[in-house]
Amino acid sequence: MPQFGKEFRKQHFFQLPDHVVPVNNGSYGLPPKEIIDRFHAAFDEDVAFPDGFLRVRQPVHYKEAVRRVAPILHTAPENLALLENATTGLNAVFHSLNLRKGDIVALPVTTYGACQKIVQFYHDYRGVELQLVEVAYPVSDAELVAKFRKVFETHKVKVALFDTVVSMPGVKVPWEQLVALCKNFGVISVVDAAHGIGLVPLDLDKAKPDFLCTNLHKWFYVPRGCALLYVDPQYHRTIQSLPVAESYVAPDAELPGDDENNILYRKFLWTGSRNFAPLMCVSAAIKFREETCGGDEAILNYCYKLAREAGEVVKSKWPGAQIVENEEGTLSNAMLSFFVPIEEYSNTFDATDRDALARLVTFNSDWQLAHKHTFIPIAGHAGKIVARVSANVFNELDDYRYACDALDGALKAFFQ
Ligand SMILES: Cc1ncc(COP(=O)(O)O)c(C=O)c1O
Repeated sequence: MPQFGKEFRKQHFFQLPDHVVPVNNGSYGLPPKEIIDRFHAAFDEDVAFPDGFLRVRQPVHYKEAVRRVAPILHTAPENLALLENATTGLNAVFHSLNLRKGDIVALPVTTYGACQKIVQFYHDYRGVELQLVEVAYPVSDAELVAKFRKVFETHKVKVALFDTVVSMPGVKVPWEQLVALCKNFGVISVVDAAHGIGLVPLDLDKAKPDFLCTNLHKWFYVPRGCALLYVDPQYHRTIQSLPVAESYVAPDAELPGDDENNILYRKFLWTGSRNFAPLMCVSAAIKFREETCGGDEAILNYCYKLAREAGEVVKSKWPGAQIVENEEGTLSNAMLSFFVPIEEYSNTFDATDRDALARLVTFNSDWQLAHKHTFIPIAGHAGKIVARVSANVFNELDDYRYACDALDGALKAFFQ
């Protein structure tokens, strides 16, 4: 196993200037320099001869990327489509479900902002009803599943949207159990696995969600934007790309057998002009993970352990902080979340006041980025302020000491 940490950063992530302390991989991801070089070479290949590239090479690269990544997700390439990001993929799913007035979509209050807005859109334009699942972390997996069950028992839910790993707080979700629950209640499962591949194991043929979208640019070392949409075979006819494009295939179109089997490829290969350089990095990312890092297990062992240890740094900085973890320890991953003891900074701050919270969140990011070249995001959750740090192969414990000081500095500056 390679020596991860500062030395590894110097060897493989040397695009990072020395003064930058990256502890927020969860937001945008970060590819190593060799994959950035691959990205540039891919784009050079395109612009050297666009006609040849778009007409001949692009389909080959697309197929190759899907073929390489399918075994990692434990499903057939035919069930996968490559697109730009989780937002696009989940929009395509909701657009294709053709929801109507009165249809109920269940989603937890922790759903990522953009994904809540997707459902809100169908509420505003189509009369779809939202059923929010209330959850205040830390909760056990059993409690979370019970909350969904209660909503399914009391409402005729058509679709449920939930994460593999929540954004804020950055906690793991028992998504396989929720998929199974959906099946029992005849609910369509839509899984937001933006934090998925490269962070948590995804065995799709075993879990069998109806739809799942996972970003390759967050934890898999592919440059932005690159994501995979998994579609259960029963929905291959239903799903359409968003934007609707030349590749549109009517749900009842007659297709030759070969096209029927490759219908996602046909629908998602050409969704308007786009940049194929990120997806041409998928093989390089797999190689980096396997050969340079020593495989998924080595990466995850290092990152999960480092995130746990970052919790000790947090506790020594703020003895009053609460790590967001349940008794079973099932929430933890390569992101560590904690409730900031905001009362140490202000006796009057009210985290449920949306305007005050928005001012604090913006000030925090502006201040840390401008003065400290690092970033620990914060958000409101359960009436408290939650903060999140991410661990990656280029991080060491020192990074969290530095970043916690930066967050402390931002909070002091805001409340002074
Ligand atoms: C849980 C979750 N869902 C969806 C997204 C959106 O991902 P993207 O901006 O790549 O579409 C994010 C991004 O941070 C996220 O954390």
